[in-house]
Amino acid sequence: MKYVFEDGRDFAIKMDSNDSLAHFRDRFYLNEGEIYMDGNSLGLCSKDAEKSLFRVLEEWKTLGINCWTKSEKQLFLYQDYLGELLSPLLNARKDEVTVHANTTINIHTAIGTFYHPTEEKYKILVDDLNFPTDRYAVDGQLKLKGLDPDKCIKIVKSRDGKLINENDFIDAMTSDVFMILLPSVLYRSGQLLNMELITKEAHKRDIIIGWDLCHSIGAVPHDFKKINPDFAIWCNYKYLNGGPGASAGLYINKKHFDKPAGLPGWHGNVKETQFQLNYEFDKASNAGGWQSGTQNILSMAPLEGSLKMYEEAGIKNLREKSLKLTAYLRYLTENKLKKYDFVIGTPYDDEIRGGHLALEHDDAIRINEALKAQKVIPDFRYPNVIRFAPVPLYLRFEDMYELVERIIDIMENKKYELYENKIETIA
Ligand SMILES: Cc1ncc(COP(=O)(O)O)c(C=O)c1O
Repeated sequence: MKYVFEDGRDFAIKMDSNDSLAHFRDRFYLNEGEIYMDGNSLGLCSKDAEKSLFRVLEEWKTLGINCWTKSEKQLFLYQDYLGELLSPLLNARKDEVTVHANTTINIHTAIGTFYHPTEEKYKILVDDLNFPTDRYAVDGQLKLKGLDPDKCIKIVKSRDGKLINENDFIDAMTSDVFMILLPSVLYRSGQLLNMELITKEAHKRDIIIGWDLCHSIGAVPHDFKKINPDFAIWCNYKYLNGGPGASAGLYINKKHFDKPAGLPGWHGNVKETQFQLNYEFDKASNAGGWQSGTQNILSMAPLEGSLKMYEEAGIKNLREKSLKLTAYLRYLTENKLKKYDFVIGTPYDDEIRGGHLALEHDDAIRINEALKAQKVIPDFRYPNVIRFAPVPLYLRFEDMYELVERIIDIMENKKYELYENKIETIA
């Protein structure tokens, strides 16, 4: 057994006192008495993120138009700088990463860039558990090309509605498949896919492959020098704490730098000649070539502070603590919550799980509401999943202990019965 845990609050406190990352918690804005378990949906604001945002705001205030070139980090090139700060989380080259728009738009630009179907090879392979926006974007791109999504999308169905079997996916890589879009971590169950294996198998068959890293970036270290995918997209507002609507991430493998961008725009032009405003587009030969219009600087600025914090903490250390915290929460769930009919929906092994734990329950909607009343911030996902993200930068072992105590109180005293079986707009 890899982890050895003990019962009782004292054990949790002891774990916290031995935690070399514990001090990062003080750099976040946390509400007194609240246990924030929703960092896989919207990460918390840190003082570091606030500071970089305020600095950029000040630069706009004092420099006006000159903020583009005379600011501390030239805002004209800010997306490249943030790409550099992001690149260690992927183990990618600095010039392969940029920050642009949102995840959905980045899927549009990636498909626009890479999808050039022929009569024989035209299908886009997807799974049936990915977040819906990815499918909307795939459908939309196919329709723009005058193609029928029902004919061009090939869906690999999960066997149990929770997990994806990698072999089913590999078997579906037939000669008519042109491209693959898959999530690295499934947003409901938290399963982490074997990206290296799937990418290798896709490339053996001459299939372009891109990954949606929304639920792994900042939670799981990636080795893109080894995995070598064609592209990847992700949001920066979950584990990376970039703030609501933070500009998203885009990785383009260097081998594709000469390809035309799917959604070209003037900020993708070579920087030296961009302001010559020629009608001939001279695309930059780095991921920045996939920029479209003027970048959303104020939606990027918090990321600077936040990513520097990641650099300081180290993604490997964060993963280690996240796995330990999640395993501890699972241990407490197995020992204390099973009698209330909770089922753990997340895979057991470290190698195949991301940064959250999914608890399934027939009364999940009402329990989720009761948790909010107990100052726990969880989130609910249809049909019966409550997700908890033990984020290592700002959560403690004692928080996991206290969370389970609050759930016991809700279940013992049937506090969930006070709520309707209906969710709010944002669950
Ligand atoms: C897997 C996945 N992809 C995409 C998105 C949405 O991305 P965006 O709103 O940045 O377009 C989410 C949001 O939760 C997600 O979980």
